Amino acid sequence: MVTRASTMSRHRDLVLEQTLTEDHVWLPYTQAKTARSPWRVVSAEGVYLTLADGRQIIDGIASWWTACHGHRHPHILEAVTDQLERLPHVMLGGLVHEPVEALARQLVAIAPGALNHVFFCDSGSVAVEVAMKMAVQFWINQGVRGRTRFITFLDAYHGDTTGAMSLCDPDEGMHAHFKGFLLEQFPSALPQTASEFAALRRFVAQHQSTAAALIIEPLIQAAGGMRFHSPEQLREVHEIATAHDLLVIHDEIATGFGRTGKMFASQWAEIGPDIMCIGKALTGGIMSLAAAMATSEVYAAFYRDEAEAALMHGPTYMGNPLACRAASASLELFAREPRLEQVARIEEIGRSLLPSARRLDGVLDVRCQGAFLVVELDHWVNSQAVMTQAPDLGVWLRPLRNTLYLAPPLTIRDEELVTLVQAALELIRRGV
Ligand SMILES: Cc1ncc(COP(=O)(O)O)c(C=O)c1O
Repeated sequence: MVTRASTMSRHRDLVLEQTLTEDHVWLPYTQAKTARSPWRVVSAEGVYLTLADGRQIIDGIASWWTACHGHRHPHILEAVTDQLERLPHVMLGGLVHEPVEALARQLVAIAPGALNHVFFCDSGSVAVEVAMKMAVQFWINQGVRGRTRFITFLDAYHGDTTGAMSLCDPDEGMHAHFKGFLLEQFPSALPQTASEFAALRRFVAQHQSTAAALIIEPLIQAAGGMRFHSPEQLREVHEIATAHDLLVIHDEIATGFGRTGKMFASQWAEIGPDIMCIGKALTGGIMSLAAAMATSEVYAAFYRDEAEAALMHGPTYMGNPLACRAASASLELFAREPRLEQVARIEEIGRSLLPSARRLDGVLDVRCQGAFLVVELDHWVNSQAVMTQAPDLGVWLRPLRNTLYLAPPLTIRDEELVTLVQAALELIRRGV
């Protein structure tokens, strides 16, 4: 039987090995016992990371898809520095400030559909939690009981907090061993054919009375395996959900801010959700900020005389002024620099260079959408091998499941992108 005492004795054995206690920083998604030690980064500029050993390597995944304008863009640094001298932080409960109001106005102006209200929080996962609470309480506030579940999709990934975990693929996703602890949702395969759409329609009808909303990552299921679907598929899924009176939540945390070639992926399908989650590239990769945006219809369900109808959520650092100024400056860059054209160029280069990967052993598929360039392999990529070898090839890459993918800063130059693609092909040739 496993008890605290038996765990402690294993702990003592490991301490004798003298490695355990030196790991003060607990790294994400990492088996610390077998992993290589992480590379030490000392600075970053544009698309380059500088390692402690002096090497400059291209950040091929824009630090988990955040650094859309490259690292340390001077316009964003200037805005944050200016804000630092005025008001680095103040609570948002009962107080408000210009940076958060200005950012909300900017986001409302560019958001798809009619998303008029912005609830700020500090990470993508929390934005998903907030979206879930909004959807469930939307029904509660109108006296409808029991609509507390979500229609979700296989291969989805929505975050690492417990509500968001429950929305991920329950069997193949990274949280599969938390079954029993997580809320059970209604997962479905993402339909492609007419008969699969008919099946989804039946599935949604069956769960309509207990589901609050349908949640989808528009066009690209990112961390669940870089799987793509078309704007037509997205539009039809949206139609099925609304026809059955469900709210629709778009999780644009990975796809938002130009990554797919439009500011938001749903704009390819010309549809607007009831709630949209954003994060990651919102601040241009400078600091953590996320949000759940909602339509006035959703907001109106909370806008009542009864105090208990309010949304009971409020992260301590929500709407942090530094993060808001970074995000505003990032959006200004989208308006004044040709980012979406740069994304189109990344896709064009990807489409011309990446297909040669099809000839390599183990490659199943190659696909490009905007600045996500993906090679799918017939096995789980050896991420330790990739992370060890990539810097020798002048790049930084970290694979996902059975894909080796590129998601560089949108400002990457042609020759840098060519280096990146060649490095990825070389790693595949080496059999990672
Ligand atoms: C689609 C999607 N939703 C949610 C998240 C979680 O965001 P965060 O890591 O900021 O909590 C991610 C992160 O990869 C994501 O890709």
